[in-house]
Amino acid sequence: MISVCLDKESEFEYFFSPNNYLGEARNITPKKIGFIGLGMIGRSIVTRFLNSGHNVSVWNRTSEKCQECVAAGAQQLSTPAEIVYKCDIIFCCVSGPEAVKSIVYENNGILTGLEECEPGSKGYIELTSMNHVIVQEICKAITDKGGKYLEAPISDSISNVQEGSLLIPATGNRQLLEDCVSCFHAIAKLTCFMNCEVGTASKMNLVFNMLRGFTFVALAESMALIKEAKLWHYDFVNYLSYGQMASPFVTEKYDDFMQNNLTLDTSFKYQKKNLELAVQLNNACQQPCPMMSAALGICQIATQRDVARLETH
Ligand SMILES: NC(=O)c1ccc[n+]([C@@H]2O[C@H](COP(=O)([O-])OP(=O)(O)OC[C@H]3O[C@@H](n4cnc5c(N)ncnc54)[C@H](OP(=O)(O)O)[C@@H]3O)[C@@H](O)[C@H]2O)c1
Repeated sequence: MISVCLDKESEFEYFFSPNNYLGEARNITPKKIGFIGLGMIGRSIVTRFLNSGHNVSVWNRTSEKCQECVAAGAQQLSTPAEIVYKCDIIFCCVSGPEAVKSIVYENNGILTGLEECEPGSKGYIELTSMNHVIVQEICKAITDKGGKYLEAPISDSISNVQEGSLLIPATGNRQLLEDCVSCFHAIAKLTCFMNCEVGTASKMNLVFNMLRGFTFVALAESMALIKEAKLWHYDFVNYLSYGQMASPFVTEKYDDFMQNNLTLDTSFKYQKKNLELAVQLNNACQQPCPMMSAALGICQIATQRDVARLETH
């Protein structure tokens, strides 16, 4: 049974990015931006920050991965604490909760850096997707040391980052978002400030990802059935394109399936992680969600095959 609550007015505040943002240097924040985590997503984000005129310093656990960003104009620093000393606003985008915890808590981590800085002078923005309980724990540790905190988990695909067309939910310190809204404009078509209650954006992100994961699995199954039913994939895609089901996500993923190009844009590893986090949220809310286990099982098999395939190349 699903009960729907309609009697609450939305508190959401929408920050739409100007069109052709990279084409016009407008109101770029003078704040020094630090960026931690130069994986596939992090490197693409830093490139967009630099191309739009931001002053960016970077740190990554494997230091060689900083080279591409340094060549594009970033300054490389030696520890997360040094990023905190030398920057005003620090973004973090790493693989998951364990990585975030080591960056925040370990020696020469974020908390070490904050201990040396004036309270209220530094902001930390979490882009890594995590569950709301860990987000709240990290937020408390950072704000207790005088840092400002915003969570803004990223869940779209790498191509959305590269095109600057992300949809980002954010909660926490609103002023911090405003202080670097030019960074969000560089990567997102829309940033939605939901409220000050940290953890809300993580929950929204997980529910969004759950729908995304289901849709992805349903697409894969329909593609398989088309083949076995001796229909043509191209006919189906054309047919689909005229109807209400033709969302950009569905048509883009169909194209990826057709071109056998799924790993370029969509990491199974992170789809699986997001579904696992959604299961945790589901369990915490005691909401039965039978499709979730099926979608997660399929993503786990796909991840194993993907890893095996990548290892043989
Ligand atoms: N890839 C996607 O399709 C996708 C799409 C949307 C959102 N996301 C989200 O974006 C985030 C990053 O994804 P990604 O694709 O950029 O990941 P990635 O390419 O796998 O990179 C992972 C990053 O995390 C760092 N890291 C891992 N463990 C660490 C630790 N213990 N200490 C310090 N750093 C550590 C890695 O450092 P090293 O370089 O040293 O290993 C690397 O910078 C994830 O939260 C993911 O859910 C991913």
